[in-house]
Amino acid sequence: MLKCASFFAGVGGIDIGFENTKKFEVVYANELDPYPVKTYELNSKIKVDCRDINEVKCEEIPDFDVMLAGFPCQAFSVAGYRKGFDDEKGRGTLFFELIRIIKVKKPQIVFLENVKNLVGHDNGNTFSVILDELQKEGYHVKYAVLNAMEYGNIPQNRERIYIAAFRNVEQYKSFEFPLPIPLKKGLADIIDFKNRVDEKYYYTAGKYKGDIYEKLVEAMDDENAIYQWRRRYVRKNKSGVVPTLTANQGEGGHNVCLIKAAGGIRKMTPHECFNTQGFPKNFKLPENMSDARLYKQAGNSVCVSVIQRIAEKIIEAL
Ligand SMILES: C[S@@+](CC[C@H](N)C(=O)[O-])C[C@H]1O[C@@H](n2cnc3c(N)ncnc32)[C@H](O)[C@@H]1O
Repeated sequence: MLKCASFFAGVGGIDIGFENTKKFEVVYANELDPYPVKTYELNSKIKVDCRDINEVKCEEIPDFDVMLAGFPCQAFSVAGYRKGFDDEKGRGTLFFELIRIIKVKKPQIVFLENVKNLVGHDNGNTFSVILDELQKEGYHVKYAVLNAMEYGNIPQNRERIYIAAFRNVEQYKSFEFPLPIPLKKGLADIIDFKNRVDEKYYYTAGKYKGDIYEKLVEAMDDENAIYQWRRRYVRKNKSGVVPTLTANQGEGGHNVCLIKAAGGIRKMTPHECFNTQGFPKNFKLPENMSDARLYKQAGNSVCVSVIQRIAEKIIEAL
């Protein structure tokens, strides 16, 4: 078993992907936000260290072989501030907290996940700083942008960059990212179109201000498609997969993907969003946690099956 330490752990999507291989064991997880920590702990025997990473001293972290980190992407995302390492809230610089820990703990492997446009951010400067820093610490780095619907057998259009860094050059040479696989799962595998769900997810006449409901009824004619409310109109997602789940999908009311299912027009449930990230069907969500928080946690997380396939490739390389 290789020991993993997980940073910016969220609800633990990366951790589950690695542990699913049965070759990795998470021995430490850090996450600042108490809400995803609650979800994480409900599904794991790990007690998450919920301090700001800036406050965590290296000697407080147990020794580990593999660093796992989907570091915050706001600083790099086109949807965010476009400020990269200069982000005034310090989010861009959180990457250097990982470097601080790497310097002392010297893990055999560093695995990072981020938004696709990390590579192009600030004309490529941000990404070259990341690569330089890892190389300075003695790592050999491979990276790839993989789409969940092509590499994870999950019907979500989610492109993310995955970075695998090895201290050992032979392992680095042997490592290859996984190849594409056919998408066999459809929307009906992750969304329950047949049974009624909690009333609160349905749109009904008079429930919302204005003519949203009428517009939805008019536009949503397909029982096996995903729709999104775009301020004034309804957009049908023609690709037959769920669009990229985002962290802000639970905010502002109508951002969550919509479907026409048994019993009418409704939002996808938080559980369905976790399914859309390839989480195991028995993944538990805390009761008494608002849907907005759960949607955010799902959107912030990763496609577990893509992570698992990469983790299997890492094992092959060792
Ligand atoms: C993109 S999410 C990672 C989600 C994770 N991969 C998952 O599967 O759920 C980034 C996480 O970093 C956390 N975070 C942000 N700043 C932090 C800090 N200073 N210390 C610790 N965690 C932090 C956020 O709360 C957020 O959950």
